[in-house]
Amino acid sequence: MNPPVRVLRDVSLQTRNTFGVSARATLLAEVNDAAHLPELLAGPAFRGTSPLVIGGGSNLLFVNNPQDPLLALTGGKVELLREENGTAVLRADAGTAWHVLVMKSLALGLSGLENLALIPGSAGAAPIQNIGAYGVEVREFIACVEAFEPGTGQWHRMDRDRCAFGYRDSVFKQQSGRFIVTAVEFALPRQFNARLGYAGIGAQLTTMGISDPTAAEVAEAVIAIRRSKLPDPAVIGNAGSFFKNPVVTSTVADALLASHPAMPSFAAGADADRKLSAAWLIDACGWKGHRQGDAGVSAGHALVLVNHGTASGQQLLDLARQIADSVHARFGVALEPEPRVVGAHW
Ligand code: EPU
Repeated sequence: MNPPVRVLRDVSLQTRNTFGVSARATLLAEVNDAAHLPELLAGPAFRGTSPLVIGGGSNLLFVNNPQDPLLALTGGKVELLREENGTAVLRADAGTAWHVLVMKSLALGLSGLENLALIPGSAGAAPIQNIGAYGVEVREFIACVEAFEPGTGQWHRMDRDRCAFGYRDSVFKQQSGRFIVTAVEFALPRQFNARLGYAGIGAQLTTMGISDPTAAEVAEAVIAIRRSKLPDPAVIGNAGSFFKNPVVTSTVADALLASHPAMPSFAAGADADRKLSAAWLIDACGWKGHRQGDAGVSAGHALVLVNHGTASGQQLLDLARQIADSVHARFGVALEPEPRVVGAHW
């Protein structure tokens, strides 16, 4: 049995971030049972601090050592809470590895999360940036998020509306530091409704010789696409997409399309705004496969920054700034990082 809380001092963070950059934390608590959070945060080590919660470390860039103590929620329990009218509620501790949860949900005969297979990170991080891939965002399947609020000592069960989800955004990002996500409840349908609209999934299923896929087969197709396009953080350090796809007004999009007809653009939510492809903009500026020392841009996908070995967080940030500056100079579009940058301002 793991102890409910383990407090570590002067800890290397190199293996706790998927970029694999070196950084150290003066204090890091691993919390296996979130019920112990209030006591831990009121104790001498954490009182008066704003702890930085670290999940799978797949959405962080350490540019400097974090000033605040770190919290890692390590509980990984997944439970089927109830099932009504063909929808099951599956609850996962924040520390559950995301892909493990996706595979468990499929093994239980539940659907919804198949397009989100193989996304690195933890279940607790999923609502924070409303993870999304292949035409699905996790918000659609979130019933409620359990969170502790250190400032007031209150526990919350926050429904979808309170989470204020947007593209790679939520109340947890907007009010960063206010809530600690401790568990997530997912509402998952028994009846599978295939979501194959995103370019590439249909083609992959055809290659696999599948015409009427099950949810598990869609997950398999997604896994194959991700493996072919995105570098595996276990092999080469990266944090997935480094930039969000920029959202611009339709006027801006139309002006860009007039001079760059090949530029991809997509509807962005309910309003008239358009979402552009950051990967395409970066690719068009010639960055794909570019390398500065050990900091580089993936040769497979222009949106992914990679650490070829010993790049520092500062070197990766410098490269990211050069990329954003060149995209801005050529297209007039501002790029924003997707991962949380710790120890520097964007
Ligand atoms: N493209 C290029 N050059 C490249 C890569 C892509 O021009 O090097 C073009 C493609 O031709 C395509 C467009 O860019 O027209 C979009 O590419 P892709 O389908 O790979 O998706 P993306 O918009 O770059 C987003 C998510 C990914 C997610 C994929 C698939 C963001 C920031 N990224 O990427 O999420 O896996 O869609 O749905 O929204 C992540 O967030 O870490 C992540 C990997």
